[in-house]
Amino acid sequence: METKKFHQQEIKEAAAILREGGLVAFPSETVYGLGANATLADAVKKVFAVKGRPSDNPLIVHVENFEQVKQYVDNFHPLTSKIVEQFWPGPLTLIFKIKPGALPSVVSAGLSTVSFRMPNHPLTLELIKEVGQPLVGPSANTSGRPSPTQSQHVYHDLKGKIEGILEGGSTEIGVESTVLDLSDPIQPPMILRPGAVTKEVLEETLGVTVLVDQHLVEENQAPRSPGMKYKHYAPKTKVLMVQPTDWAEAFDWAKKQDLKVGVLASPELRAAYQAQMTASYPLVDESIASAAKGLFAGLRALDEEQVDLIFAPVFPEVGLGVAYMNRLKKSANQQFFKV
Ligand code: TXA
Ligand code: MG
Repeated sequence: METKKFHQQEIKEAAAILREGGLVAFPSETVYGLGANATLADAVKKVFAVKGRPSDNPLIVHVENFEQVKQYVDNFHPLTSKIVEQFWPGPLTLIFKIKPGALPSVVSAGLSTVSFRMPNHPLTLELIKEVGQPLVGPSANTSGRPSPTQSQHVYHDLKGKIEGILEGGSTEIGVESTVLDLSDPIQPPMILRPGAVTKEVLEETLGVTVLVDQHLVEENQAPRSPGMKYKHYAPKTKVLMVQPTDWAEAFDWAKKQDLKVGVLASPELRAAYQAQMTASYPLVDESIASAAKGLFAGLRALDEEQVDLIFAPVFPEVGLGVAYMNRLKKSANQQFFKV
């Protein structure tokens, strides 16, 4: 099939395809999602098939507003309205117990819970509204590959397999939403996947303790979120994480081994070591926000270059750095450059 690019003025056309069970990728503030009508089991099954996604990995249901969630959930955590008021639309996915049979079981991979998110993107909110039904939306990449932050990344992975892509430019945040488990009304909220809405911000805003899935702290714990157990975000080229103090040694070592390196590089890094990079992906500035925004796009771009190795900068694991390092460690298979 031909994969069509849709623009703002063609949202009705894209919505009609989704309503009838076709697949259209959509932009969001985090990464692009692969949209399908969440109420149609066959459409949702196609999402698993075209991504090559393991069938035990549940999908996020994207809604236009909180009202829409109420059709599927009747047992809410007491903090829900406060959380929704503060953080929706935004990069925060909420897991609730689902009313039995309210959505096809393929959406939740057979679990008794379903996750919901209201994305902060005007085109996609308009799209969901036009469809009149919520949309499942896993990241619109082939399973295991870096998530797509530009429409051409979606096109690269899924062209010929989906009906269309709604063009929305580069995504703002660059790493996927925080996943917060609210499924047990008597337990504190628990972060299952770190994202731009951080534990610190949640605790400060809500005035309660927010737990973090132990698997994110200790390697040997099983994750509560099925998707977190799979290998992810991996370019074909080997990635090494480099500490701020280790760049000189890292480039020296690569030179001695005669290795060509591609670098996710801030302006300062390029100024200091440009000559020693075979290729670089420019981060806009020195901030964690620019590193998070450029991570997946940079890994994809450098993977197309003739390099033996990709170097990526290590950031402190605070704030957005927690989500960035969570994704980067998986891309790098946990490998740091060691002096
Ligand atoms: O930012 C995002 O969240 C993007 C955009 C497109 O919205 N979507 C996204 O979806 O990252 P996906 O499918 O790539 O990741 C969803 C994650 C997976 O790790 C999955 O296991 C977890 O959320 N998840 C979904 N529903 C769950 C549930 N009921 N219980 C536990 N984990 C769940
Ligand atoms: Mg994904």
